[in-house]
Order: sequence, then structure tokens, then C-alpha cells
Amino acid sequence: MIDFKYTGGIINEEEYQHKIDEARTYVAKAEQDSFGGWVNLPVDYDKEEFDRIKRAAEKINSDSDYLVCIGIGGSYLGHKAVIEALGGERKRTKILYAGNCLSVRSMKKVLDELGDADFSINVISKSGTTTEPAVAFRIFKQKLIEKYGEEEAAKRIYATTDANKGALHDEAVAKGYESFVVPDNIGGRYSVLTGVGLLAIASAGIDIDALMDGAAEERASLISDGGKAAEYAAMRNLLLEKDYNIEILANFEPQFMYLNEWWKQLFGESEGKDHKGIFPASVVDSTDLHSMGQYIQQGRRNLFETFVEVREDCPGITVPTLEEDLDGLKYLEGRELDYINKTANAATREAHTAGGVPVLEIVMPTIDERSLGALIYFFEMSCALSGFTLGVNPFDQPGVEAYKTRMFELLGKPGYEK
Ligand code: PA5
Repeated sequence: MIDFKYTGGIINEEEYQHKIDEARTYVAKAEQDSFGGWVNLPVDYDKEEFDRIKRAAEKINSDSDYLVCIGIGGSYLGHKAVIEALGGERKRTKILYAGNCLSVRSMKKVLDELGDADFSINVISKSGTTTEPAVAFRIFKQKLIEKYGEEEAAKRIYATTDANKGALHDEAVAKGYESFVVPDNIGGRYSVLTGVGLLAIASAGIDIDALMDGAAEERASLISDGGKAAEYAAMRNLLLEKDYNIEILANFEPQFMYLNEWWKQLFGESEGKDHKGIFPASVVDSTDLHSMGQYIQQGRRNLFETFVEVREDCPGITVPTLEEDLDGLKYLEGRELDYINKTANAATREAHTAGGVPVLEIVMPTIDERSLGALIYFFEMSCALSGFTLGVNPFDQPGVEAYKTRMFELLGKPGYEK
């Protein structure tokens, strides 16, 4: 459910309807695009591979304390978002992440945590040549071979990459790694419901059938005319036209921190081009109300907020009752912590609206596989419609190459000499 009741006065009904009508026309354009494979994915995916992913996840849980997921950007943010949003791993295997930066300290931390435990690797790279995961893969592959020998190591490496080409594809074929495909028609940031995200998610003990079902249900409600995704896309574009050029994704659930990160990549990489776009930012409240809250309430009035809210109650922890009232909390005694959190949420929306921040709400009934699958699909469709409405290609990312080219020059990669 999405609600725009806090944007009254900024957007008039006529322009809103006009923009929605435009956004709706882009559903077919997204579906027909050569990178529109995600549109029908929830109802048209490779069932044989899906079953293989489940079997691989079972094997990983039977022989590995850790699965090291090596990938960057669209190759790791989606599955990390899903696993964390659902409260983390539910089985033996813990997921570790590597190859999403080049920090030595970060690498040492992962290696330290891994120690001498049993582990497997899921190396995820569509191109197979991205520097960060390629370097990390060498490091963890070497550790795997030292621990298990070449033959057993090859059985513990799962490669998710292009079906036909690339360095990682070629190595997987040569060494006999079990492989999963990043479909040609799905870009990294739209790929969480493919082998890119599903092996890690299934290895964490999460029900990937329910995740896909949730995405399929959302697809059914959006596929004919964009539904609520067209409304969100229209509202974002109208706010941008009125110089609200920063969108903050806000929630009151620390488990959603990586959902925020995934969303920022999805919208930032899809829309930030041709000197256009809304800058996507995020907060996790009430924590960030004590850091970013001041700016949001009273800073420059060029931002709007989209709250992702969970409707379901989360009972179980109440404020203890005490004889004395030294901390002044008597008025909250016996109250559920969840009630206080939800009240903070309502208060924040009202305060920010009063402070001149347009506020949108996306309501999730609960936090489970189905609703997350639905939310992922909703954001993917909204992003595509919003990008097309903005007048950019929401499926390419030419700007990402600039730093790589310069880095290769500085590192002396063959073919990049000045
Ligand atoms: O969304 C994208 O396309 C990017 O974030 C890529 O996923 C990221 O750059 C990693 O690329 P690759 O999977 O080719 O290693």
C-alpha cells in the first residue's frame, strides 16, 4: 500500500493524474526492453536452476559453517538486504561478504571471522572481470585450496555469472564449479530474484518459493497499468519538477539498513545520469533522528521522505513497572516497545510534514518472504517507470566505468597505459 496524504498542497490532482497516465505507458516499454527480463521473472524463471539452487543450499548447510559471498553492487546488495530484513540466517551456515570493497581492514576482518571453519564460496559477477570481487575470489579460493585441496575446493565454489562468456564463466567451465546464471536481460541491480541473490538467500534458510510468490503477486497487481508503482513514479517526478531533488527512504527498523542500501543503488544507478535524477538517501530511525533529524526538520527544503512501515505488531517487550519513578517513565509502564516505536514513527511523519517535507508511505503488512518479494518487485517496477518518466534509460550505468578506467590506468592494467 502506498499513501500520499502528506503531500497535499504541493501537487495538484490534475498534474498528478496526468503524470500517472504517462508513467503507466512505460510498463510495456520496460517489459520489451532488452534489460526488462526482471518484469516477468517472478512467473517465468528457470525452474531447473531454481531447484538446483535449493539443492546447493542444502549441501552448503551440510558442509559449511560459512558461505563467503563475493560480489559488489547489484551482485550482493539484494541478497544482503533480504537476509538482514528477515532477521538473518536461520540455519547452520552464516553468510559472510567479501569483494564489495578493496579495504584491507575489511578483508582481514572476514578472514579472521572465517578462521579455520568449514566454508564454501559463492562468487557472483556478471561480467566476471570486476576488480573488487576478482581480487577477493583469488584470496578466498587460495584459502579454500589450502584447506581442502584442489578437487574438494572446486566442489565448494559456486559461480554465478554470464551463461556463455567472461573470465569467471570460463574458469567455472574449466574447473567444473557448479554455476548459476545472471540472465543477459537482467541488470545487476534488478537481479536479486535470480541466481545472483537466491543461492545466498536459500543458504540462509529463507523460503525462496515464498519470496518469488510475493514478487509474482505484486507483478499481477502492477503488470497491466503499473498500479501503485506508476503512482509512486509519478509522485517522485512531480516532486523533482518542484525542486525536491533528494528522496530519503526512512524506516524504523534497523534490520532494513541494507534494504535502504539496495534501494539507493536501484534508484541512484537507474536515474542519476544525463545530469538528471533524484539523489537517493536513507535513514534508519529513530536512531538517525538524533543525527539527521535536525537537517530533515529544518534544513534546506529540497527533500522528501518515503517511509517504509511495517503494519504488524511486534509484541514481547514491555517497559518494566517499578516502585519509584526516578527516570520519569511511569506513564509508559507496561507499554509495548513496539507501540512506542510506532508512535515515534507517526510523530516523525507529522513533524516532518509540518516542517515542509513531503512524506510518502509504503506499508508492508508484515516482514516475511512474501511481503519482501512484493516490495522488491514494487521498487523495481517503480524505478523503471520513474526513470522512463524522467527521460533516462533506467537500465544502463555508463558512469560507473569512469573510475574503473582511471584506476586501471593508475594500476597499469595492460591495455590501459596512458
Ligand atoms: O547494477 C549493476 O549493474 C552493478 O552494480 C553491478 O552489479 C556491479 O558493478 C558488479 O558487476 P559484476 O556483476 O559484473 O561484477
